[in-house]
Amino acid sequence: MIYTLMNKEKAVLDLEIEDGIILKILDVWNPEWMPLGMNAKFGPDRKFLNHWWSGRAIPASRSGIRDALEHMNIDTPKELLEKNYGLSLSDQYWICPKNSSVKWKNINFFQNPFTDDVGSALFGGEFNGDFMSPNNTSDGWLKKKWTIIDGKRFLLKSGSGIAQQEPLNEILANMVCERLGISNYTKYSLYNSSRNIFSLCENFITEDTELISASSVMRSKKKKGNASEYQHFIETCKEYGLDVIRDIDDMLVLDFVICNQDRHYNNFGIIRNVNTLQIEKAAPIFDSGTSAFNGIPTIYIKNQTANPSKPFKKYHENQIQYVTDIERYDFKRLKGIGEEFSELLKKSPAIDENRRDKLSVWLSNRTDYIISQNFCRDNLKKIQIKRKSKKYER
Ligand SMILES: Nc1ncnc2c1ncn2[C@@H]1O[C@H](COP(=O)(O)OP(=O)(O)OP(=O)(O)O)[C@@H](O)[C@H]1O
Ligand SMILES: [Mg+2]
Repeated sequence: MIYTLMNKEKAVLDLEIEDGIILKILDVWNPEWMPLGMNAKFGPDRKFLNHWWSGRAIPASRSGIRDALEHMNIDTPKELLEKNYGLSLSDQYWICPKNSSVKWKNINFFQNPFTDDVGSALFGGEFNGDFMSPNNTSDGWLKKKWTIIDGKRFLLKSGSGIAQQEPLNEILANMVCERLGISNYTKYSLYNSSRNIFSLCENFITEDTELISASSVMRSKKKKGNASEYQHFIETCKEYGLDVIRDIDDMLVLDFVICNQDRHYNNFGIIRNVNTLQIEKAAPIFDSGTSAFNGIPTIYIKNQTANPSKPFKKYHENQIQYVTDIERYDFKRLKGIGEEFSELLKKSPAIDENRRDKLSVWLSNRTDYIISQNFCRDNLKKIQIKRKSKKYER
């Protein structure tokens, strides 16, 4: 079937899609409006475009996806893409069937309502047959769905495993940001159903913007010589006219405090204006749930000298050294956060008293340690790990 790939109201190029695969790129109309980094030197590249297109589908690793697809009578997540024109709530790309009169303003999910049919199926509930949903294109492995509350779009995300800790960790991340004066972050709140606890955050993308992952940013320019991944990201953003050093400082400091293990290159990024193609700002910090021993059995909760990290270094104790202005953070303001975390954990029936106490003591000790180090560039070296200490078994 022939489609025009659109960016909001702009025709980007024509392509042929069969069984979820882009077979051919046909006429190219506005290559500048392609996804960042897709416009190779000799024109749009089909391989890149296929990679990008399949990346729009729900990942096969998504919790509960197999049952949901079966329930909707769908073979693969990719099949869902053509059923909602490929529309998302994280950018403005979509595919318009050739010779169709359908208009972005009438179908986009920022301005038009959508049913909970696909969302419900993804959570193991009923499916009533309406495939027009932004949930067909949502990323990440946790169960999640977009929902409309008072006219605004919110992402509802579940936890995982026995302790279901991710939603609470999002709130912990917010608490740390507040105390340290980090302002560019996504606010999460808790939502309780009868059995589970979820996190809820408002969409930080509007009908005029798109989220571009750090992974796409990094791929959009060739890495220079022996530049580190960190330098490559900072330099690439700079080439697009954006200084992200302070934002990355904030993210690395937050992740260091809460021992985030999952800040991969799709868990941060930048925001581009889709009307002007101007890169506007760093995306607010989001998805900090895989922190504070999330998914790790209670017996392993203890302070460690080497805490696994992503994306620039393997350990936080090394990664923190990329922070350019550590004096900006008043770590003394973290005092008492262990107790506050304990109160927060009480809200979840899935976290028993033992786990709660161990997490609270761990965080108090960790923040005391950070405060006592009186962090500044000169003594950062002191805490650098001299040798890789043994990683605990997960
Ligand atoms: N508030 C938001 N506004 C717009 N887009 C968002 C928002 N929150 C998340 N997203 C998009 O949805 C994707 C999935 O969300 P998120 O990273 O929170 O899920 P996850 O399942 O925890 O991911 P992971 O697989 O990294 O654990 C993000 O990568 C991002 O593209
Ligand atoms: Mg994520």
